[in-house]
Amino acid sequence: MDQPLSNGAAVAGTVELGDLTVNRMGFGAMRLCGDSAWGRPRDPGHASRVLHRAVELGVNFIDTADSYGPETNETMISQALYPYPSGVVIGTKGGLVRPNRRSWIPDGRPEHLRRAIEGSLQRLRLERIDLYQFHAPDPNVPFIESVGALADLQRSGKIRHIGLSNVTVAQLNLARTITPIASVQNTYNLRDRTSEDVLAACERLGIAFLPWYPLGGKRGLKAANIRQLALRRGLTHAALSLAWLLAKSPLMLPIPGTRSIDHLEANVLAAALKLAPEDFDDLE
Ligand SMILES: NC(=O)c1ccc[n+]([C@@H]2O[C@H](COP(=O)([O-])OP(=O)(O)OC[C@H]3O[C@@H](n4cnc5c(N)ncnc54)[C@H](OP(=O)(O)O)[C@@H]3O)[C@@H](O)[C@H]2O)c1
Repeated sequence: MDQPLSNGAAVAGTVELGDLTVNRMGFGAMRLCGDSAWGRPRDPGHASRVLHRAVELGVNFIDTADSYGPETNETMISQALYPYPSGVVIGTKGGLVRPNRRSWIPDGRPEHLRRAIEGSLQRLRLERIDLYQFHAPDPNVPFIESVGALADLQRSGKIRHIGLSNVTVAQLNLARTITPIASVQNTYNLRDRTSEDVLAACERLGIAFLPWYPLGGKRGLKAANIRQLALRRGLTHAALSLAWLLAKSPLMLPIPGTRSIDHLEANVLAAALKLAPEDFDDLE
């Protein structure tokens, strides 16, 4: 394997997910489904090669959800990687349902979460899920009831660590009154910093923050200042975005998504980039 890339995901150091330690360049598997995170990919063999290459490059945190596909993303991961190489941590999520490709509907009812986790365990071929993230609060279910259901599932041994996604600081604090929380996954990138307060809360608590849309999603980060600075530094906007995220906080665990092995390799290489202080000023 090419030297600079070998174990490249470890170059930016590690972060703790409870008692687990993972390299600080993860992989978001959602894009390995069909378009709109719906169905199977056109070339499942290629999706499998992307997952294998990620692990070869030292990526040992893979993010998925039962709603990606739905279900197919988790199945693809186990078909590609089971038995999982030592140290590989799969973080999945539950609490959203997909009646069609356009809809993502919250379902935080305890009975739904109990069913959802059984499905994820089966598809991922696991007896316990290392990181189970509540995908999004359900406005029709008291948040504490949803989190309480996950705490019960943790006590029964089906979940190792509980994470939250798409939450406010108040929700994070509320969840912590009944169970330890290992991570938060909210949207965060150079353009969208609405979760700055949640990141700050994670830093105070010493828990991992997983920025989703780290590259700005499918549209990418096309703002002029990002493009110009990337050009000046001889970087792509993707590399600049990832380097900025990693430098922003030692608890940041980016999970960029891609279907391309070239992009995956470039994203892992970004773990080694160091930005200058003036780069940060330009990006404020
Ligand atoms: N918790 C939530 O509610 C939530 C919501 C959305 C996503 N997520 C998670 O976050 C992960 C990442 O989000 P995402 O995939 O939607 O967005 P993203 O990582 O911000 O961006 C992915 C897009 O960037 C492109 N890309 C990737 N690497 C690139 C590179 N080096 N150069 C140029 N383009 C590049 C990809 O296209 P190519 O395929 O062509 O590379 C894809 O279109 C998902 O996989 C999922 O696990 C969570």
